[in-house]
Amino acid sequence: MRRFDGFLVALALCLALPAVLLAYDVPEKIQIQRPEKNAALAQWVGPQVEFPHGFHAVYNACRKCHHKESDKDLGKFLSCTQCHSKDDPNDNTGFYLAWHNDSTHSCLGCHRKIRQGDTGQMPPLSCTNGCHKKQ
Ligand code: HEC
Ligand code: HEC
Ligand code: HEC
Repeated sequence: MRRFDGFLVALALCLALPAVLLAYDVPEKIQIQRPEKNAALAQWVGPQVEFPHGFHAVYNACRKCHHKESDKDLGKFLSCTQCHSKDDPNDNTGFYLAWHNDSTHSCLGCHRKIRQGDTGQMPPLSCTNGCHKKQ
């Protein structure tokens, strides 16, 4: 009977481990807020963008966007704005280009790339169609 208990404990541990590793917090909806110090680059767009995060996380690996995360901080995802807060619109480490640069790490960069491909998906490209609200 003791050996059987030991087997059950080992089995429970095997089943529990992947569950712990996969227990990421994946926010469903995120509101990205332009920091006060960052001037509006276009006067007609408002300071917030509603980002359907959960929807994106289903189709993309987390690290496609969370590009600074490594195996060491598995499960601990930093907000982009924690680093990308500079006001310079031409600096890749600043606020503006984190969402608009040409790489697939950024919102617009990835949306453009997908539109060029033949997946049939149509992510929004225009400022106020899908991302920014009119001011
Ligand atoms: C398409 C890009 C993208 C993908 C894919 C993605 N995320 Fe995110 N995630 C973001 C953005 C953008 C934010 C908002 C950052 C901010 O507000 O500065 C965010 C925020 C988060 C936050 C909140 C961080 C905080 O402290 O505010 C967590 C947690 C998170 N993501 C986890 C995940 C996990 C886990 C996955 C994979 C299952 C994932 N994300 C996939 C873009 C993405
Ligand atoms: C720990 C700090 C940090 C976090 C968190 C971070 N970044 Fe970055 N990011 C940087 C730095 C530094 C660079 C400059 C190039 C490099 O070192 O990779 C950069 C570069 C970029 C670039 C331009 C370079 C490229 O890949 O083409 C984009 C776009 C970008 N980040 C988007 C994001 C997004 C979106 C998030 C959140 C999902 C995010 N970053 C989270 C620090 C960070
Ligand atoms: C790695 C690629 C990638 C990145 C990065 C990315 N997206 Fe997307 N996005 C997509 C794809 C794919 C779709 C789905 C298009 C479709 O199904 O037609 C999409 C769709 C959307 C939609 C429309 C959702 C709907 O309900 O139709 C919005 C809004 C959106 N993205 C905003 C953002 C924002 C804001 C960011 C950055 C914070 C971002 N995306 C970053 C790939 C990406």
